[in-house]
Amino acid sequence: MRFTGKTCLVTGAGSGIGRATALQMAQEGGNVVVVDLKLQSAQSTVDAIHASKGQAIAVECDVGASAQVQAAIAAAVKAFSALHVIVNDAAMMTFTPIVDIAEADFFKVIATNLGSVFLFAKYGVPHMPQGSAIVNISSVHAHATTPNVVPYASSKGAIEAFTRGLSLELASRKIRVNAIAPGAVDTPMLWDNPNVKSGVEKVNGPVGKPEELAEAICFVASDNASFVNGTTLLVDGGRLSALG
Ligand SMILES: NC(=O)c1ccc[n+]([C@@H]2O[C@H](COP(=O)([O-])OP(=O)(O)OC[C@H]3O[C@@H](n4cnc5c(N)ncnc54)[C@H](O)[C@@H]3O)[C@@H](O)[C@H]2O)c1
Repeated sequence: MRFTGKTCLVTGAGSGIGRATALQMAQEGGNVVVVDLKLQSAQSTVDAIHASKGQAIAVECDVGASAQVQAAIAAAVKAFSALHVIVNDAAMMTFTPIVDIAEADFFKVIATNLGSVFLFAKYGVPHMPQGSAIVNISSVHAHATTPNVVPYASSKGAIEAFTRGLSLELASRKIRVNAIAPGAVDTPMLWDNPNVKSGVEKVNGPVGKPEELAEAICFVASDNASFVNGTTLLVDGGRLSALG
């Protein structure tokens, strides 16, 4: 029961890795704030948590929009009084070459994937006591990538640099900041990817279950990882060498 008495806010928790993480944290005693762009998805995660006698609230929020992030944090603190864990999981991808992509689409990916990590740190950290933890979800695309996903890959690379830098800034507050870089995971984001559908990105290595990622995320978010800080844990079943 690593999260008993802790408030755990998970973005993108209406589906996939975020949902599995929210369920696991609730199972381990956490009060979970299920944040998602789609309220219905968030509510379905909350319903599953309530069905197993856990505590959770659903919050509709576009994580790239400052006012909505601030409102989500306020809702979390109002419901559960403090914030001990933030998992920045929500993300989006585009599949257009850089010379063709609309400026607005490029900046939307950066705002959703990277801006959200900034906003939840800026507005969340003041509510986080000593011993809290932030986990940012990166991707193997920060390390090896394919054509036409440059905005996504760049946002994930930047998340890892942000994680390192923020961990230094928060060391005096005793708040740890780490990133998890998943490989291929069995979620809608993987199978809806046109590069995967067309075979440009081959999924010929192992495919993880969302629950396997949740295990890693819960580890770095918990006190068991008290000496793990400012780093990125690759959780890809060894896939990175098979990207291509
Ligand atoms: N599935 C994979 O193979 C894989 C691989 C590497 C990294 N990742 C990363 O893992 C994380 C989770 O991905 P997943 O595969 O579970 O995806 P998913 O599509 O199953 O879930 C993503 C969730 O994020 C929500 N979301 C999207 N945009 C949002 C926004 N602006 N505000 C709030 N919520 C928003 C969606 O509604 C959805 O519920 C992402 O950061 C993704 O980049 C996934």
